[in-house]
Amino acid sequence: MKIFIDTANVDEIKEAATWGILDGVTTNPSLIAKEGRDIKEVINEICSIVDGPISAEVISLESDKMVEEALELVKLHKNIVIKLPMCIEALKAVKILTEKNIKTNVTLIFSSQQALLAAKAGATYVSPFVGRLDDIGMVGTNLITEVATIFKNHNIKTEIISASVRNPIHASECALAGSDIATIPFGVLKQMTKHPLTDIGIEKFLADYKNM
Ligand code: E4P
Repeated sequence: MKIFIDTANVDEIKEAATWGILDGVTTNPSLIAKEGRDIKEVINEICSIVDGPISAEVISLESDKMVEEALELVKLHKNIVIKLPMCIEALKAVKILTEKNIKTNVTLIFSSQQALLAAKAGATYVSPFVGRLDDIGMVGTNLITEVATIFKNHNIKTEIISASVRNPIHASECALAGSDIATIPFGVLKQMTKHPLTDIGIEKFLADYKNM
């Protein structure tokens, strides 16, 4: 499974990039707003740090406006992937952008039917949200299993980006479910490096060595 970082914070991206684990980056309007910076400026900087797919999300809700925004964003860098929120207008925009060989990521996917339609429209990626389904009392990772099974059964090439990953268990369950990619916040990536037995083991190795 490939790992993307889900943030618009360049310090986090710079740090995670040094770990050798990053395959790409996803952002969304909330993450950009949190940084209080212009989207183009942030995306430009991210593209200079990570050489992989970088999702930049449109904010329009009509297909022609989505396409217009997308055409501006793709001018920034060859690695830009246009992220669009799942809706009929986005499907229309995905069709147009796909015909222009522009990569797309259909986000806010909460059902396998939405994922199937986005894939049919030509989406390069779909982003099913795990944590937000958990938030409403559902098992978010079941959606990843369902979408992965459907895509496999029908030989659909669209890649699954598991999104709204909130903890290390989400990450391993998404991998087990057959997700192609998980986009993970920096804090969760840090948690994934840790295990109490590793810390105890390091302490013991060092103590034993000192007592030699
Ligand atoms: C995905 O691309 C989204 O940016 C993100 O994963 C949403 O996560 P959240 O539900 O924790 O806000």
